[in-house]
Amino acid sequence: MGDTALFERGNFVLPKALRLAHDDLRGRLVNMMVEGGPVMIVARRLAQLCLPHFEWEEKTVYPVLALLPDIVLGKLQPQFAKVMPLLEEFNMRQAEMDSEHLLILSAIDLLSRVAFRMKNADCADLASRLTIHETVEEKVIFPMVAMIGDHLRERREI
Ligand SMILES: [Fe+2]
Ligand SMILES: [Fe+2]
Repeated sequence: MGDTALFERGNFVLPKALRLAHDDLRGRLVNMMVEGGPVMIVARRLAQLCLPHFEWEEKTVYPVLALLPDIVLGKLQPQFAKVMPLLEEFNMRQAEMDSEHLLILSAIDLLSRVAFRMKNADCADLASRLTIHETVEEKVIFPMVAMIGDHLRERREI
């Protein structure tokens, strides 16, 4: 078996499931932005926060997770060092990311209240999906990336 492909057309490879989850949320947000009324206003605010945030996660956080299956199998390749700059950036932006998540969660809260007031089931569904998404990132994805970083640094020192 060959080396894990880290790049595809010059970009880091992302775990497909994570990319699809962002694509799904992006699509739902964009649809909501043309609904008009209070839903549109809140959806636009959320898109302003989420779209650059998602992009940054796809550039810096998610590519690190593409290494996970090989790391679990003990297959560390020299080329994995290429993600170290991403891990440095991830560490440096921790506080900023936490505040982005707080802003996103408070915009989601507003979306839930608008959904309830307007009896808009799609809007309520998006609020729920976004809450789950950001919570899974905070509680699972980000700690996992931090662990991978520690693991790669330790291995480099051996
Ligand atoms: Fe995300
Ligand atoms: Fe996030």
